[in-house]
Amino acid sequence: MIVPKHVAIIMDGNGRWANKRKLPRSFGHREGVNALKRIVKYCGNEGLEILTVYAFSTENWQRPAKEVHYLLKLMEETFSIEINELIQQGVCIKILGDLSTLSAAHRRIWEAAEAKTQDNNRLYLNVAFNYGGRNEITNAARKIAQKVKSGGLSVEQITEEEFAKYLYTGDIADPDLIIRTGGEYRMSNFLLWQSAYSEWYFTDVLWPDFDVSEFKKALSCYSKRHRRYGRI
Ligand code: IPE
Ligand code: IPE
Ligand code: MG
Repeated sequence: MIVPKHVAIIMDGNGRWANKRKLPRSFGHREGVNALKRIVKYCGNEGLEILTVYAFSTENWQRPAKEVHYLLKLMEETFSIEINELIQQGVCIKILGDLSTLSAAHRRIWEAAEAKTQDNNRLYLNVAFNYGGRNEITNAARKIAQKVKSGGLSVEQITEEEFAKYLYTGDIADPDLIIRTGGEYRMSNFLLWQSAYSEWYFTDVLWPDFDVSEFKKALSCYSKRHRRYGRI
């Protein structure tokens, strides 16, 4: 079976999972963390190299303040409580997104998670948090403009390869497979640049219900795809 090196996931459907059970949306988010733990564990054990998950988008700030607050707290809690387990599993954490607008306390949790796991190499787990593809691209453009202005880079040196270095993903390989749970067929501002040649897999399964058997279905589907990159 052809195994993807890098899988990215849009973890969608937490709210609807809770609604179906007449529970507050927060219950769906909490159960979503369990789904994430299952998938991280599986990926580490199966030797997948890179897993990127969409945890909070730049657009998600538009949700009711109560839900935003809950999501921030939940992420903070998860990555402090689970950190030792993640270290043991050999997970190397990297945050993709704009950390500059987060509270200092929140930023410290993420920075600590990155620092404590930086020497691990069993599974690279990228957490897209306060992430937006357009934010990432404009942010990269700004950094490049600054560098050109200061004489560190010439206009001719701005190639696709050079540009990509300024994205939050830096030198991380592009995702081979992107999974979206929750039944929507859209990108929602996720990895706009990096997904140019990714294979997409959509499933109606709501994220809290996503398990190893559903993940295997996605991997098996991927292994049957023919990636042509414009060739014949
Ligand atoms: C995904 O689930 C989690 C985040 C966006 C943080 P949703 O909260 O979007 O759940 P639905 O789409 O409303 O069911
Ligand atoms: C995408 O889900 C963002 C995350 C999973 C973090 P959304 O629920 O925010 O996407 P839309 O609003 O349905 O496009
Ligand atoms: Mg959603």
